[in-house]
Amino acid sequence: MSASAPPSAIDLTALAKQTGTARVSNMASGLVASEILKIAGEIRGLVRAGKSICNLTVGDFDPKQFPIPEKLRTGITKALEGGETNYPPSDGLLELRQSVQRLYERELGLVYPVESILIAAGARPLIYAIYRALVNEGDRVVYPQPSWNNTHYIHMVGATGVPLPCTAENRFLPTLEDLEAELPTARLVCLNSPLNPTGTAIDPEVLRKICNGIVAENQRREKAGTKPVYLMYDHIYWPLTVGATKHVTPPELVPEMARYTIFVDGISKAYAATGVRVGWSVGPVDVTERMSAINGHVGAWAPRAEQVATAELLDDPAGCAEYNEKFIAGIQRRLDATFQAFTAMKAKGLPVDVIAPMGAIYLSARIHPFGKRTPDGNVLNTNEEVRAWILAAAQIGVVPFQAFGVPDDSGWYRLSVGAVSEAQIAEAMPRLETALATLA
Ligand SMILES: Cc1ncc(COP(=O)(O)O)c(C=O)c1O
Repeated sequence: MSASAPPSAIDLTALAKQTGTARVSNMASGLVASEILKIAGEIRGLVRAGKSICNLTVGDFDPKQFPIPEKLRTGITKALEGGETNYPPSDGLLELRQSVQRLYERELGLVYPVESILIAAGARPLIYAIYRALVNEGDRVVYPQPSWNNTHYIHMVGATGVPLPCTAENRFLPTLEDLEAELPTARLVCLNSPLNPTGTAIDPEVLRKICNGIVAENQRREKAGTKPVYLMYDHIYWPLTVGATKHVTPPELVPEMARYTIFVDGISKAYAATGVRVGWSVGPVDVTERMSAINGHVGAWAPRAEQVATAELLDDPAGCAEYNEKFIAGIQRRLDATFQAFTAMKAKGLPVDVIAPMGAIYLSARIHPFGKRTPDGNVLNTNEEVRAWILAAAQIGVVPFQAFGVPDDSGWYRLSVGAVSEAQIAEAMPRLETALATLA
């Protein structure tokens, strides 16, 4: 560094802020911003203005309500202090890949080679790599509606999205009957269980039938010498099931599915560690190797110190079980309290409905006062109008299923309980009941 005076600064603000059409790629200009983030921004504005909001919009955790495991926190600090600061291998530290390997054998009864396991900075880069590794432009990607973010990944790889509209009767999860007609032309099927946004989980027998359908389709393709159809099985919420719900996996039901299934997983949800950024995929070795090559160039690896600490965490089954028990109990109390409040409102004849929670941190609630008039004289006709009215009249933030690809005004909303206290829920539900009772 020279000791001479610094150069006078050039103010580039105006040039940098210059906008215009067609300055970026067609893909980039066509990418839709997250609806949830838009709503979250609106809520932040209200909070800044001094309003107290029960924010059920974000699929995240308030660290004051749900801190990460102590072992993870201290492990990251210790690893950093121990000098774990250089590049990790692009497919992840071997210690972490091996601890994921042990986790899958111990908890899920699935034995995979270590080459099947790829580490990244959370689940998102792995989802992107799955799409990139398997899907050519124009290929058909089948996904249930509602679902989280598939439309955006489909857009990024230029695929053809094939939504499968799912109904409350099936707890918003698809069946083989929904899927069957699309299987012969599909490249990738996307399933997520427990499901964001609904908090419901796939029935083992339904999943078994879907797996048998995929295997039968791939036997046909193998004879024809064409590429298989794959299943992206995003089970990032799998440790977070509530009540009698049992999480199941495709290869456990139909082992042949190990050739076609890529699991998406990580610590973001199971350990309330959304900001720590450690995720992994588990799948066929040839696909994993290509995903690793893609993510290596993107540089999407998880920070080294966090990988070291995550390996230590996962290799402590007793510590994990103790954390999970307390964590899941806290989630369940919030889900149950919200579910019971909606059930009671429905019993009183108010225009609401709700599906019993099965897992993740979400509840599907229907709020459908369509055609009713608010005390201000506004008639509520759409999900968006109801959402905005609930926020103003009851100070509760909810996300309409439109944010998860559902096109119509079905009245269904995602309620996420990870960032609120039990007291906030207890105070918010009577506010909603009072507000609904003012509608004429
Ligand atoms: C179903 C599902 N998969 C993946 C993710 C992304 O996880 P990560 O934060 O590890 O990228 C989320 C986050 O909301 C999710 O809900």
